[in-house]
Amino acid sequence: METLRKILEQAETNGVAIGHFNISDLVTLKAVFEAARDLNVPVIVGASEGERQFMGVRQVSALVKSLREEYDFPIFLNADHTHSLPSAIEAAKAGFDWVVFDVSTLPFEENIRQTKVAVERLKAMRPDILVEGEIGDIGSGSEIHDAAPDLKKGLTNPAEAKQFVEETRVDTLAPAVGNMHGMLKSMVAGDTRKRLDIKLVRAIKAEARIFMTLHGASGTDHDDLRGAIEAGITVVHINTEVRLAWRRGLDSALVKQPDEIVPYKILPHVVDSVKRVVAARLALFSIGRRARPASH
Ligand code: G3H
Ligand code: ZN
Repeated sequence: METLRKILEQAETNGVAIGHFNISDLVTLKAVFEAARDLNVPVIVGASEGERQFMGVRQVSALVKSLREEYDFPIFLNADHTHSLPSAIEAAKAGFDWVVFDVSTLPFEENIRQTKVAVERLKAMRPDILVEGEIGDIGSGSEIHDAAPDLKKGLTNPAEAKQFVEETRVDTLAPAVGNMHGMLKSMVAGDTRKRLDIKLVRAIKAEARIFMTLHGASGTDHDDLRGAIEAGITVVHINTEVRLAWRRGLDSALVKQPDEIVPYKILPHVVDSVKRVVAARLALFSIGRRARPASH
């Protein structure tokens, strides 16, 4: 089995991105795993602090590990948006492959200081673990929002990205490049889409020369996603679209089978609903393009 770092290197060389999908239960995990297996592409599942509190930190880790081992398939687990060192250490101890250490709401210098400590502590425990840092403002909440927050002032500055990466020694960087957590109602309706600043992605990549993750990708324009991958994004996070598909799948299954009470007869419809969304995103992220120079 290739390591997660190797898989990111290969993705960068091949000009594709790895899909990262948040999970809250076995239904979403099954859907993501099945979609990735059908397409035969590596995949990352993420569990934020709230998601892993619901599933159990060690339990979600055991589930992902069992799929990886039984099927010899590259599925990895990320401790998404981890806001404190104790929470990051708990995930590392439980066997997570990656931690997104997110103290991006703190002032820049304090973000650097705390992220640097987190990288040192986590690597001392688990030298193989990947640690991501985040700078800029991409809002919060993988939910349906009434209005978009003003995130223009929170866009990532390429020089600061370089400084952040050099001083913290993170493995990957989550920048703010027009992305935003969650979806607006108009996005859910299909009337509007998130747009990305591709030039900024390219400029940050040129300065920071590091693997970059695009958070908040639900509802993003397809061409912009392709453009961002071409410009230097190696991992794309999708959550709200997964949650929306989960909810719609459940609603329609209950309407279709109003008297059914057997979970394993209802929930496969939810798996299918989520799987369709994940498969479409994975297919988009997997379209290759010219190789670009590798990060260090
Ligand atoms: O970390 C999770 C992602 O950034 C999800 O963002 O809900 O907009 O897809 P999203
Ligand atoms: Zn995120």
